[in-house]
Amino acid sequence: MNDLSALPDDFLWGAATAAYQIEGAVDADGRAPSIWDTFSHTPGKVAGGDTGDTACDHYRRWPEDVALMKRLGLDAYRFSIAWPRVVPLADDKVNTAGLDFYDRLVDALLAAGITPFPTLYHWDLPQAQQDRGGWPVRETAERFAEYTAAVAARLGDRVTDWATLNEPLCSAWIGHLDGAMAPGLTDLTAAVRASYHLHLAHGLAVQVLRENVAGARIGIVNNLSPVTAATDSEADRAAAVRADGHINRWWLDPVLGRGYPEDMVRAYGVDLPVRDGDLDLIGAPLDWIGLNYYFRQIVADDPTGPAPHFRQLPGPGAERTAMPWEVHAPGLEELLLRLTREYGARRIYVTENGSAYRDTVGPDGSVHDPERTAYLEQHLAACARATAQGAPLAGYFAWSLLDNFEWAYGYDKRFGLVHVDYATQRRTVKTSGRRYADLITAHRGR
Ligand code: IFM
Repeated sequence: MNDLSALPDDFLWGAATAAYQIEGAVDADGRAPSIWDTFSHTPGKVAGGDTGDTACDHYRRWPEDVALMKRLGLDAYRFSIAWPRVVPLADDKVNTAGLDFYDRLVDALLAAGITPFPTLYHWDLPQAQQDRGGWPVRETAERFAEYTAAVAARLGDRVTDWATLNEPLCSAWIGHLDGAMAPGLTDLTAAVRASYHLHLAHGLAVQVLRENVAGARIGIVNNLSPVTAATDSEADRAAAVRADGHINRWWLDPVLGRGYPEDMVRAYGVDLPVRDGDLDLIGAPLDWIGLNYYFRQIVADDPTGPAPHFRQLPGPGAERTAMPWEVHAPGLEELLLRLTREYGARRIYVTENGSAYRDTVGPDGSVHDPERTAYLEQHLAACARATAQGAPLAGYFAWSLLDNFEWAYGYDKRFGLVHVDYATQRRTVKTSGRRYADLITAHRGR
């Protein structure tokens, strides 16, 4: 067994989900469509034509899901709040029925002894806001601040730990540059402007939370990857620096008060719509940094490809998940140490880490997932190694509590510690979930 002894006594054991991936009930209680409703209902965008219309029906089954969390022994639950439930349209009208749902959830979590860790934005922009320009326009960031104020007013008396954005890289680069996620654009200028306004939205939300939630502990969640050049050639090494800028530094530097990396501003060649005071807002001090880790990146120069001119190669490791991402736990250790040494992080959470595999339900109804169990153990061991070397790692959130709607991959990819039978909505704790529960118990009892 991997050695986890370096993890601190008060290490927070959690699991994560996101609203559109689990809630379903897309037109319940005043919710309006988000860009993901539009995208998933557009033929050809999501594998199998899947949508989040029903997902895990968590909007109705949340009491059962909170009971599952308790059974697993979780200390904390990271979920996201759906902006289109709370402020469904592009105006300032707050939908109290939408907030009621999160209010009940927070109360139930607290009653179960589980700390709520909400994320304010996990990709489900109200479609009405997209129709007014979406993330490429400044108004969206300003509306996000108003939405944040509504959530803070309702939950701020009970919720202390807040994440502003989940993986803004995906919203900006995959949603506006690659086109593989909502809103499905392929436009560098729109993508860079979207990234800027996402950061501004983060900064404004931090300000709103600081002003309205006493003792708030605020962070942002980024998906990062260690980057290695495919060869030792000068061109590939330069491509690796650009890839690191595109994947990591563009997302860390501004929110940690360093401004935008100059080399990347030049590489994109797009003017940032900066106004006086923005960079201070964007770089305002945070209480923690959230790291989502899945895989490393091996990159080569790609002079004829789109800016910033690199292409990703499959990692050399033999082991792959069903995504199919290379399994490379040392990458997690490397990133934790980089956040500590290069960025001076004082508190880090692994806010997501997990793996998709082709799970099957056995004849006895059990779901045996040895690969996911090994993945979990290896990555927790990487956390412990980084902690032993000084990383201020305060907790780990497994992705994901439940199998769920995996965006453009639909329901085909299962990441859960708990299996969901989508026909019956039956939940079954997998071997990995049981292993996680055992590790939590062992850690508490040491
Ligand atoms: O399912 C996603 C999640 O929404 C964001 N981080 C990566 C996960 C796996 O792809």
